Amino acid sequence: MRDAHPNAIYLKDYQQPDYWIEHTELTFELSDDHTLVTARLDIVRNSQRPASGCLTLQGQELELLSVALDGNELSVGEYQQDDESLTLQGLAERHQLTIRNRIYPQHNTALEGLYQSGNMYCTQCEAEGFRRITYYLDRPDVMSVFTTHVIADGERYPVLLSNGNPVAEQQLPDGRKKSSWHDPHKKPAYLFALVAGDLQVKQDTFTTMSGRQVTLKIFVEPQNIDKTDYALDALKRSMKWDEQSYGREYDLDIFMIVAVDDFNMGAMENKGLNIFNSSCVLANPATATDAAYQRIEAIVAHEYFHNWSGNRVTCRDWFQLSLKEGFTVFRDASFSADMNSATVKRIEDARLMRTVQFAEDAGPMAHPVQPDSFIEISNFYTVTIYEKGSEVVGMQRKILGAEGFRNGADLYFDRHDGQAVTIYDFTKAMEDANGVDLTLFKRWYKQAGTPQIQVSSDYDQARQQLQLTLTQRCPDTPGQSDKLPMWIPVQLGLLDSQGQDMAIQVEPASAWTAASQVLHLTEAEQTFVFHGVTERPVISFLRDFSAPVKVEFEQSRDELLFLLQHDSDGFNRWDAGQRLMLGWINDAMAGQFALDEAAVSVFRALLRDASLDPAMVTYLLSLPSEAYIAEFSADIDPQAIHQARQQVREALAAALTSEMAATYQRLQSDQPYAPQPQQMSARALKNLALGYWASQSAEGLQQAQQQFAAADNMTDQMAALQALIHSGERSLAQHYLDRFYQQWHNDVLVVNQWLSVQAGSAELASVEFVESLLQHEAFDWRNPNKVRAVIGAFAGQALCHFHATDGQGYRLLADAVIRLNGSNPQIAARLLGPLTKWKRLVPQYGGLMKAELQRIMAQPDLSKDVYEVVSKSLV
Ligand code: ARG
Ligand code: ZN
Repeated sequence: MRDAHPNAIYLKDYQQPDYWIEHTELTFELSDDHTLVTARLDIVRNSQRPASGCLTLQGQELELLSVALDGNELSVGEYQQDDESLTLQGLAERHQLTIRNRIYPQHNTALEGLYQSGNMYCTQCEAEGFRRITYYLDRPDVMSVFTTHVIADGERYPVLLSNGNPVAEQQLPDGRKKSSWHDPHKKPAYLFALVAGDLQVKQDTFTTMSGRQVTLKIFVEPQNIDKTDYALDALKRSMKWDEQSYGREYDLDIFMIVAVDDFNMGAMENKGLNIFNSSCVLANPATATDAAYQRIEAIVAHEYFHNWSGNRVTCRDWFQLSLKEGFTVFRDASFSADMNSATVKRIEDARLMRTVQFAEDAGPMAHPVQPDSFIEISNFYTVTIYEKGSEVVGMQRKILGAEGFRNGADLYFDRHDGQAVTIYDFTKAMEDANGVDLTLFKRWYKQAGTPQIQVSSDYDQARQQLQLTLTQRCPDTPGQSDKLPMWIPVQLGLLDSQGQDMAIQVEPASAWTAASQVLHLTEAEQTFVFHGVTERPVISFLRDFSAPVKVEFEQSRDELLFLLQHDSDGFNRWDAGQRLMLGWINDAMAGQFALDEAAVSVFRALLRDASLDPAMVTYLLSLPSEAYIAEFSADIDPQAIHQARQQVREALAAALTSEMAATYQRLQSDQPYAPQPQQMSARALKNLALGYWASQSAEGLQQAQQQFAAADNMTDQMAALQALIHSGERSLAQHYLDRFYQQWHNDVLVVNQWLSVQAGSAELASVEFVESLLQHEAFDWRNPNKVRAVIGAFAGQALCHFHATDGQGYRLLADAVIRLNGSNPQIAARLLGPLTKWKRLVPQYGGLMKAELQRIMAQPDLSKDVYEVVSKSLV
């Protein structure tokens, strides 16, 4: 399979290629047992490089049939070939190179390149999947104009799609069908796509701001045609939003989305032909939860926004991945904030950063937003590249202001349209458009790890001054120590005793941006003086989660309670509540927890406060997850965390039962279901209330059963099912799980949710139980969604079982990794995440986790993907 020790590649070694490919003409002939690919490449020497006359193309698992140069077929001795490449020497300025090869999509289980999903063919080429289709310069700085012909049996594959605009469709003399596509925008091979199938289409149009009409099409397998409305609507809203917010419009006559069941990731932004994991695009009220609707809206937007941030302006090399991903996540987050609640979106983002990204930063796979090396690029589609990358873009907006940021984005798109560029071309555009120097800020891209800010304050009543001293430090990460201070935008406010924001004047004045209420921390230690502070303020620090940092700031429980009630910054209201709850959970771990009445009455009042957005109240009343608590612990003891959280949850539920019941009743609605923000918000709180209520009383439990039976939508049905599971009434839960499966066994996406709630539940998911799910008829190792629904949910959510003290949870995960290593290395490597954190756990667990990593390491034929993660984890 692979070398025993695959090599890393380094950013510092980047060089331009010796040749460009101006035009790429591809012909695919799909037949049952193989596919024939003919690639005609117009290559031209790169004048920036010495004239080597040498061209090495990448290729993997290809059966080479012939190579011709300018129409003359080469004999075997005239080129060199190995497992990963094809090399030609003695080339001149320009040539037409024609390569024919055979591939076997029906045996492709890695789901990279061209593969079969159900009855259809589809592709996934990012990052390096195109080399599994034909020999090519499979690197993002080689941008080419593509023409594609797809030939197949027209009866079985009436729909034949590729990038760009359709140019011809014909019936061949042998009865096969041929469809031809041309994409006028040059693009790297990772944006290539092909789809063939017997698909149905949902269609609409969109008129761009310049008045062009674009055809929109969503292709699905016939049984899913009633699940396309929402994605189509989200697409139109995304197109409009990008015009309004960034002044960017769509640039082809047609935009297509295809839903496929077997897909390694969420979705892919192939030019004009986005391919989606069906779970990220298909929805109707009966089968999709509100959370699924929101995810669909965000992902449809994300992939659409890539048309500019990624496709029109792409990455020079894969070390620049965050150039497109960080920026595009930032864009989809802004879109979701505009469509729904900005505060709630910010809370969700911070939760993800604090649980998953901070954990990545503190583990063996920690890497900068712009990494300097990798073994397998697929391992770098991470929360650091995506979400921290987005945070780094967001901080630039905080620093430059909304208008300055927009000017920078305009300059970036205009200056680099049609180019493959680096992250520093992005920051340069921000600098040039604003006349600022971001040198210091750019450290965010090069230094891995989560900076920690320590806050101390001193109030002087006589002088009406507040002194705030901030220190920052960033822990060592693999390959990086002694980090330099970062430029950290700290948004903050000072609350007076009425809970009102006080006016702020700071010294040095240059450290304060009034428009965004941001204090600029740029040194290892800095003291800021606030003047005219007429009374001792309560400090609201790092409002809106203005930087992805950890904060150490002693504030009393009274102050936290005060912030929870009064802060004008919704994010910090939530954060104060979480800090309060973390305090309780720590008390519980120390065996000295008691719920205090003052806090309970504040939570009661929040529940009753009809002026608040119910979704916001839902978050205010939700305890931090076990993963979140773990990230705020020095040595992680998963069982202790689980026990402590349960104890606090139980106490809170008991104290709030009647308010929860009342809240539930108040939010009952007889409006027909719609996936629309106000309704979703109300359902979120209603179902949170049901969960608490059902855990405490027979009436609540009764209500959950009634809601399960009466629900006309998946949000309510699933919430009722979860309430029944969490009530701990095991046989009752099992009864409803069986009913649910009866009702939904024909719907793959619903069955996956059913698998996932069970595998992720503390009440059910013992190792034995999860093993039985793996044997269930609904499970399939070849389908990534199912693997994630069972193994992913188990290791990521059912922490008290995954961390079973006998190590059997770790063994189950390691067995899954070993099994998938050969068939789908990307998924295998991704599943490893939880085991890589072993050093953070108390030794009792860490040792057992390490032993499983060592067992994986000892397997023969480790894929690059798995090898990289395991070897780095064992260092
Ligand atoms: N560019 C895609 C997206 O974020 C993800 C592609 C992931 N591919 C992979 N091989 N990991 O929108
Ligand atoms: Zn993306």
